[in-house]
Amino acid sequence: MNFTRNSEIEQDFQLREQNRHREFAPVWDETLEAVFADVAPYYDIASDVASLGLCSAWRRRFTRAIGVGAGDRVLDVCAGTNGVGIALLARQPDIKVTAIDRSAAMQAEGGRRAKARGFSIESHVDDVHELPFPDDSFDVVTLQFASRHLRVIDVFSEIRRVLRPGGAFYHCDMLKPENPAVRRLYGMYLKGCVAGTAMMFGSGNEARSCRDYFVRAIELFYSEAELTRLLNGIGFHQVTSDSAPGGILAHHRAVKPQAV
Ligand SMILES: C[S@@+](CC[C@H](N)C(=O)[O-])C[C@H]1O[C@@H](n2cnc3c(N)ncnc32)[C@H](O)[C@@H]1O
Repeated sequence: MNFTRNSEIEQDFQLREQNRHREFAPVWDETLEAVFADVAPYYDIASDVASLGLCSAWRRRFTRAIGVGAGDRVLDVCAGTNGVGIALLARQPDIKVTAIDRSAAMQAEGGRRAKARGFSIESHVDDVHELPFPDDSFDVVTLQFASRHLRVIDVFSEIRRVLRPGGAFYHCDMLKPENPAVRRLYGMYLKGCVAGTAMMFGSGNEARSCRDYFVRAIELFYSEAELTRLLNGIGFHQVTSDSAPGGILAHHRAVKPQAV
């Protein structure tokens, strides 16, 4: 872990990252891969059902907000079933999309989906805490619905490294609502959702056992404003965001400065 390397990052964030890692390492290192292998075939529909359509509405809104031009090199981090890459290629076929995700099952499903639409996405099955790409090698980097499962300071620092100066990072995830009452309601709703979806889709034991983790991961995560401060601390600038009511999820856009 190297998240203390940037002294611009507030100490509070560094401590919170240590706490997240301490509490979640067993799930991150041992359970999540089995969960995503299990849910890969029905991941997209299950997340839609669980969120009553909110997820797909925000996915569409997120991909619409991503600025890509002809010839752009796009990296989708934690690409899962390639939802972001496929949506971007449908809008602008003249881009090169690279996907990275630790789950071979999610990427196999994503490869099938891309092929069915006539698209080609370069796939890397690997952990994203150290990105296997040279510095400054992408114009756009995206990361959707996965940061809660990551050491974010490390991954965001890697994303900044592989982006070219002037390139943009687009982030979307469920976040920690600022308001404690909203936070409590959101937690109860999430617990019910995970249990209901697991039953409906016949998920395996790993997915069922993660019910408490999914709620706790949000409790220890960042709010929209905190994520903005964190991105600035990591060395991005022009950070903007757009959130759903109550701050339950948000998009951020952050630019790597030209002169670094
Ligand atoms: C909830 S899915 C989101 C997938 C996709 N971005 C989307 O929006 O549909 C989270 C993904 O993060 C991946 N993931 C979690 N931890 C990872 C890690 N350390 N390295 C690489 N991928 C990871 C999982 O395999 C899974 O595919």
